[in-house]
Amino acid sequence: MSDLLAIADLGRDTLSHLLDLAERSALGRPLAGEGVALVFQKPSARTRNSMEMAVVQLGGHPVYIQKEEVGLGTRESAEDVARTLACYHRIIAARVMDHRDLVAMSAAVETPILNMLSDSDHPLQALADLLTVKQLLGRIEGARIAYIGDGDNNVARSLAQGCALLGAELVIASPEGYGLSDAPDGVRQTHDAAEAVRGAEIVYTDVWVSMGQDGEAEARRRTLAPYQVNTALLAACPDAHFLHCLPARRGEEVAADVIDGPRSAVWRQAANRMHTARGALAWMRGA
Ligand code: CP
Ligand code: NVA
Repeated sequence: MSDLLAIADLGRDTLSHLLDLAERSALGRPLAGEGVALVFQKPSARTRNSMEMAVVQLGGHPVYIQKEEVGLGTRESAEDVARTLACYHRIIAARVMDHRDLVAMSAAVETPILNMLSDSDHPLQALADLLTVKQLLGRIEGARIAYIGDGDNNVARSLAQGCALLGAELVIASPEGYGLSDAPDGVRQTHDAAEAVRGAEIVYTDVWVSMGQDGEAEARRRTLAPYQVNTALLAACPDAHFLHCLPARRGEEVAADVIDGPRSAVWRQAANRMHTARGALAWMRGA
């Protein structure tokens, strides 16, 4: 049984296979009669709903578990939470503050563990991002993608790992100190946002203050302010599509007329979260 904690855990063929599965609406009922635990230490709109519906589409029963209910790492250790949930569920999915909790859960049980976002990675988001790129451009290999803003976050890391595996040309533009700390080979980094978007086919950004970073909010907003994705920046790539994992803060990382304008594909991208979640779950059940 396979865990999915990070995109880098997958090989190129497996990642392509997951995207192929996501494009199939009928994957049977590999979760018939089975439970999937969905543990959330942080809020969620897209991940919770897309996962719940994907589990239902595969014939299973999702159990949504809020932070207070299991007290991961406070009421009970991450290992004991995993051991408990493994008694009832076929897959354990978790959104955690600290990625090390996912690693501890994975070591404690045979039941597959699925990362629904940690401080370091957001693999389910990257699957939807890559599927959206494929739909918009007709290909992933060679796609010219510019990621602008906070380069050292979970969304950027998982996207970078996916681009590296599938041969997309990713450029990350971020201020000093905000670059991706462990960028895979082939991912280029710069401080120059205007240079990064030149010739881009996809322009991507994420919030400047991720969940759990509220203490740094003011400094982050100040430093990242020159990296807003707006009409002036996008003048260098008039045909580029705009992507954002959401939730977005209009007027911070993206101008309202960009995210709400004709080049934005963020709602298609959000819809793809359910299709890619279904593909990932089916793969974890052996598809
Ligand atoms: N993109 C994403 O993961 O959204 P949620 O935080 O709402 O799940
Ligand atoms: N980087 C963001 C992504 C939210 C889906 C965060 O971690 O808050």
